[in-house]
Amino acid sequence: MRLPARAHGGEAVNDSYAKGLLGHSTAGEYERLLLLERLCDPGTIRILERLPITPSWACVDVGAGTGSLARWLAERCPEGQITATDLDTRFLESMPRPENLAVSQQDVTTTDFPANSLDLVHARAVLTHLPHPEGVVRQMASWLKPGGFLVIEDPSYLPAQASPYPDFAALLVACERLLERTHGTDNSWARRIPRVMADAGLTNLKMSADLSVCGRDDLEDAYWRQCFSQAFPALVASGLMTEQQINRAMEHLDRPEFTDVAWMMVSCWGQLQ
Ligand SMILES: C[S@@+](CC[C@H](N)C(=O)[O-])C[C@H]1O[C@@H](n2cnc3c(N)ncnc32)[C@H](O)[C@@H]1O
Repeated sequence: MRLPARAHGGEAVNDSYAKGLLGHSTAGEYERLLLLERLCDPGTIRILERLPITPSWACVDVGAGTGSLARWLAERCPEGQITATDLDTRFLESMPRPENLAVSQQDVTTTDFPANSLDLVHARAVLTHLPHPEGVVRQMASWLKPGGFLVIEDPSYLPAQASPYPDFAALLVACERLLERTHGTDNSWARRIPRVMADAGLTNLKMSADLSVCGRDDLEDAYWRQCFSQAFPALVASGLMTEQQINRAMEHLDRPEFTDVAWMMVSCWGQLQ
């Protein structure tokens, strides 16, 4: 069964994300999303494995990116229906997918699923970029069947300026500003998630966070090199940093003694009564 999504009134289609730094047309965005899924899927899967998933669950992954979690859910729910939604589905259309996995091009702020129709709704690194995430949480909660689960994950920079490496701190702060300007990204959002979920009627709330540590010459450094390189032209064009400042900051990643935190991925999950 394919769950129909329907448009609801309100804002016009949100194309600010698509046109911004993290839009799918930006050079390197596909590679960044692949690194993001490799970096964050293990933590997300640890959380999903704590839920009583059954083979027949109906699930939606909102803003599914390259679709790795939707594919994971499709394997876990062979008799169910998984829908991977995204504003821009180009990376989802090309993935191999089983019959129980549908792809749907949707702006989560203007489309809807039927009330009481889903066992699980998941969104990672999506709501932090939306202008009114509180309303979207209420909307997503309304799609859940009684007993259904909502899992929301969003990154949060620790106070970036508190980094003991001033060059690196400046780069993190500039990236934060750039995301605010291009996408309206709200770095304070992640901390509000449990409160907003409680207000939306979710109970048994849980919260956890994974630190993203730089300086170990591993996958996380590869992710951050990709992010900084992708942001490089826009950081310079916006006047937030010079090329020399960015290069100096990125050189830290080559130093064996460098260890610092870039951000943490905050995960919150709860159940509709
Ligand atoms: C940072 S990526 C995260 C991708 C994936 N959730 C992950 O964590 O690997 C954010 C994704 O949300 C999508 N997105 C942004 N705004 C959206 C909206 N209003 N409705 C649906 N998807 C949106 C983007 O196109 C992008 O694929």
